[in-house]
Amino acid sequence: MIVLGIESTAHTFGVSIVDGKNKKVLSNVMESYTTKTGGMIPSKVGDHHVEVFDKVIAQSLKKARVKLKEVDLISFSQGPGIGHSLRIGTFCAKTLSLLLKKPLIGVNHCIAHLEIGKMMTPAKDPVLLYASGANTQVIAYEGGKYRVFGETLDMGIGNFLDAFGRVLGIGFPAGPKIEEMAKKGKNFVELPYVVKGMDVSFGGLLTNLKQKLKKGYKKKDLAFSIQETIFAMLTEVSERAIAHTGKSELLLGGGVVCNKRLQEMAETMCKERGAKCFILPNEFNVDNAAMIAFLGLEMYKSGMRTKIKDASIRPYERTDSVDVKWRE
Ligand code: ATP
Ligand code: FE2
Repeated sequence: MIVLGIESTAHTFGVSIVDGKNKKVLSNVMESYTTKTGGMIPSKVGDHHVEVFDKVIAQSLKKARVKLKEVDLISFSQGPGIGHSLRIGTFCAKTLSLLLKKPLIGVNHCIAHLEIGKMMTPAKDPVLLYASGANTQVIAYEGGKYRVFGETLDMGIGNFLDAFGRVLGIGFPAGPKIEEMAKKGKNFVELPYVVKGMDVSFGGLLTNLKQKLKKGYKKKDLAFSIQETIFAMLTEVSERAIAHTGKSELLLGGGVVCNKRLQEMAETMCKERGAKCFILPNEFNVDNAAMIAFLGLEMYKSGMRTKIKDASIRPYERTDSVDVKWRE
């Protein structure tokens, strides 16, 4: 079975072709909206996706050596995400489904980050540390659903990094640039460390950093200290979720987990408590359509379908509102 997956929850428009029988990614093409100085403007992201969608679909098919008429299932990210972005992917998915007369399946983007990890690694029942732009959650399966054990109380960790990037004028996305800057920083500056149970918060930290910049602290030292502080917060709540659930595997997902320092901290924590840490190649950490295709395939195999009339976007869909029928 050939699955065509479409991802469009935020700044990335991606199309992937997956060979369902052999569980093989045949192509995973993506185009992401970026800026040189300012942040991400939702309507501009929508315009970006409209501009690239046909090219990305064509490239993905070409790379996979698959013809459009050979596609058996269309899977798309239905939520959560930015309305302007989601609408474009959903529109493409519905159109392709009607045109090809092939089934359609809408999937939850956050759960897709976890399911692709299970597909690509030996992980069986991991706790997922999901750290992306808009989302920061610790998720695990319990009682028929993926439960959110901890999450950010305000902004997502990537949005926090990008917001600080806007202050520094380094453009979007700022995470990779802050990682580079942090390598040059040596002096640790004490910053607000906000962990409440299994939840975290970044709002106060952003305010504090703006004050520190005005006081003349070096950018490279702040970048270094930011990483040490926020990644320690994530590692702490992940460890607490592992202890609480009694699970023994940690999987990393989301764009921010591309960060080598975060990976290092998570690996150290897992090693110290005898848990296994699973890290995917970066192309499957960032928003990608392969994970959407894989989850769509699993859902389809369990008998789930999305009717055209129900294929509307779900910008606020919660991870724990999805019935995980495919795992039963
Ligand atoms: P979601 O819809 O899941 O919230 P997203 O739109 O935020 O996804 P992702 O590709 O998962 O997309 O993540 C993008 C975020 O990851 C951006 O905020 C970016 O700054 C951050 N990021 C990317 N690479 C790194 C890195 N090396 N270090 C820190 N942050 C990074
Ligand atoms: Fe994501």
